[in-house]
Amino acid sequence: MSRSISQPASESTSRKKSKSAPSHQAGHKETYVRFRLNDRIEHFLLLTSFTVLGITGIPQMFADTGWGVTLIDWMGGIEFIRIVHRVAAVVLMLETIYHGGVVTYKVFVKRVRLTMMLSWKDMTDAIQSLTYNLGFSKEAPKMGRYNYAEKAEYWAVIWGTLVMVITGFMLWNPIATTNFLPGVVVPAAKAAHGGEGLLAVLSIIVWHMYHVHVKSFNRSMFTGRISRHEMEEEHALELAEIEAGIADRPVDPVSERRRRLIFLPVAAVISVTLLTGLYFFVTYEETAITTIPRQPIESIVPAAEPEDGVP
Ligand code: HEM
Ligand code: HEM
Repeated sequence: MSRSISQPASESTSRKKSKSAPSHQAGHKETYVRFRLNDRIEHFLLLTSFTVLGITGIPQMFADTGWGVTLIDWMGGIEFIRIVHRVAAVVLMLETIYHGGVVTYKVFVKRVRLTMMLSWKDMTDAIQSLTYNLGFSKEAPKMGRYNYAEKAEYWAVIWGTLVMVITGFMLWNPIATTNFLPGVVVPAAKAAHGGEGLLAVLSIIVWHMYHVHVKSFNRSMFTGRISRHEMEEEHALELAEIEAGIADRPVDPVSERRRRLIFLPVAAVISVTLLTGLYFFVTYEETAITTIPRQPIESIVPAAEPEDGVP
């Protein structure tokens, strides 16, 4: 999933002539491999688990509204969607652990460049894009493998997933949580979880869908390829490096092999620890899924004293 913060030295965007188009026009019909199968599978897992989490979570947040209750009933009732929410949460957490492994492997073993890291240039690119789109400047910014919009998307997902997993843990295991923290953290976690959940869903709809659907219909996360035109528009600096033949960083296979021999056992220990932690996270507490149906409660409110004393 394009959530790779770096570009593997041996796997940078590469030029592939599409067989069908004749050579001269080939320039324009040229496509570049932008995402490998692994990235696309990761993105698909993120896309599906996130969508299920949003669809099963948001109505819970508005369970005191008519449309919230209707949506919950449509989806099979509160207990069913709470179970589905948790299954999707486990998929998201497993994908996040896997992604952490992929990124550290690329950075430590493959020594790839950290193309997803934010830099001051992203700030100036964002401002230049704005002035260019408003017609105040003549030139659009030239950007690298990941432009400021894609980096913002990536780090928002990292930050958001962390918040949702930590607050999700507290909602999932309120007794374990309050063994260590004051009880007030559970309603606070609910507010933070709901708030971040709503923000995440709206930012995907507004920011991500604009950049991958409206601005240009970017199919690269599904086909793996990006057109020359899109490279010129969105990744001109990377295209220049590819054309100059300097996109790939030379790799010394001997030292890469030595690094891999160190990385794999360490990664195995860390993954087993994280997966065991996840197992306890999910099974530690028999939290109530069975939900008591809504009961009309009679509340006795003392009659207010009349202000002027006349009954
Ligand atoms: C990243 C996407 C996610 C979104 C958009 C999302 C959204 C929501 C929303 C809106 C609620 C209702 C909050 C309320 O009642 O005010 C909720 C409840 C809940 N969420 Fe999430 N959530 C996400 C991820 C997670 C994760 C990763 C976990 C677990 C680690 C989790 C566990 C829970 C739990 C336990 C509840 C309480 C209700 C229940 O038991 O189903 N959520 N979620
Ligand atoms: C129908 C829904 C979606 C579509 C069509 C879609 C499409 C895409 C495309 C085409 C890219 C590649 C952009 C590039 O060239 O770099 C991408 C990247 C990405 N997507 Fe999605 N996406 C969807 C949903 C999601 C969701 C739900 C999330 C997260 C919760 C997500 C997170 C990301 C991230 C982090 C990247 C990498 C940063 C970037 O390159 O923009 N996507 N997506």
